[in-house]
Amino acid sequence: MVNADSSLADNSIVVEGLVRDFKTLRAVDGIDLHVDGGEIYGFLGPNGAGKSTTVLMLTTLLPPSSGTARVAGFDVVHDGPKVRASIGAALQEAALDPLLTGRDHLRLQATLQGIPRGDRSTRTSELLERVGLSDAADRKVKGYSGGMKRRLDLALALVHRPRIIFLDEPTTGLDIQSRMALWTEVARLAKEDGVTIFLTTQYLEEADVLADRVGIIDQGKIVAEGTPAELKDEIGRPSVHATPLRAEETQRVTKVLARFGDPVPGAVRDIAVRLRDGTSGLADVVRALDNEGLIVANLELQQPTLDDVFLAKTGRSLEGAGGEEEPDSVSPPRKGRRR
Ligand SMILES: Nc1ncnc2c1ncn2[C@@H]1O[C@H](COP(=O)(O)OP(=O)(O)OP(=O)(O)O)[C@@H](O)[C@H]1O
Ligand SMILES: [Mg+2]
Repeated sequence: MVNADSSLADNSIVVEGLVRDFKTLRAVDGIDLHVDGGEIYGFLGPNGAGKSTTVLMLTTLLPPSSGTARVAGFDVVHDGPKVRASIGAALQEAALDPLLTGRDHLRLQATLQGIPRGDRSTRTSELLERVGLSDAADRKVKGYSGGMKRRLDLALALVHRPRIIFLDEPTTGLDIQSRMALWTEVARLAKEDGVTIFLTTQYLEEADVLADRVGIIDQGKIVAEGTPAELKDEIGRPSVHATPLRAEETQRVTKVLARFGDPVPGAVRDIAVRLRDGTSGLADVVRALDNEGLIVANLELQQPTLDDVFLAKTGRSLEGAGGEEEPDSVSPPRKGRRR
């Protein structure tokens, strides 16, 4: 099997000063990255941030304008074939043929990847099983749901047992069940098989629950990096969010809240302040509002989220910037070593 022994191999991604220009636009603006073997790295950013452009460079599909990137120990510019032999990718623009079945796709990929003829059927069935497509294996892809297509994409990326996989927004547009099924599989690949995973996403929650480390990219630059817990710790204090019952009292509620902390920029649906050190909790805020005779429809304390990190670094909210609503709260698979 190709790359069967990944234990001795270099499964890292090391990027220095990577830049990509498109005419006058600098899509990726000098990024540095270091992803260790077996790590799940979440590359989080809004539409147009430069996520796909980065992935295309790391997968050798687009030459960098400057800077260097080594993937699995090989330079993406000078060792393209070696990089490609070590990696698998499920790109944002999936190229599936609607008239072929899931099994056809996998067999074809196994042939292209040089899997010996005698092993192709087993490998195909194994992967179909793994991504939960055994029952749909012999149906044409045109009848697949979005989630099924993304799972087939993932299976195709795994055919040659790559040590590193790149997933470009693997769950965008999927319902929460399909999203969680993919999360489970991705977490398993990293944990059990030691595969390094570089995953782009617009979903804060996806980065939060799945990634060991997160890099936040905005306008081609990495604006924050760390474990989700580290990033949230940087923000520190929780925030208080209030929704005035009467719209005409918005100003007065804002004033009262300002006594307790600094406004959280970008909060649109409610009034929010980040509590200052030394401020007690919600009770004080309730009392202060009560003293002024102000009524709120909703008042809550929120622990820092990755969105707060994004806000703090860019002055904008990632929710909404990405165009899609965050999924509802769920309990996805955790890797059991954070928080
Ligand atoms: N081939 C290209 N020619 C010109 N401009 C491009 C090209 N590819 C990307 N861009 C521009 O580069 C910037 C970064 O695009 P990129 O696709 O990397 O963003 P992204 O973070 O993947 O966004 P999304 O979440 O929408 O997929 C955008 O402004 C985009 O319009
Ligand atoms: Mg993209």
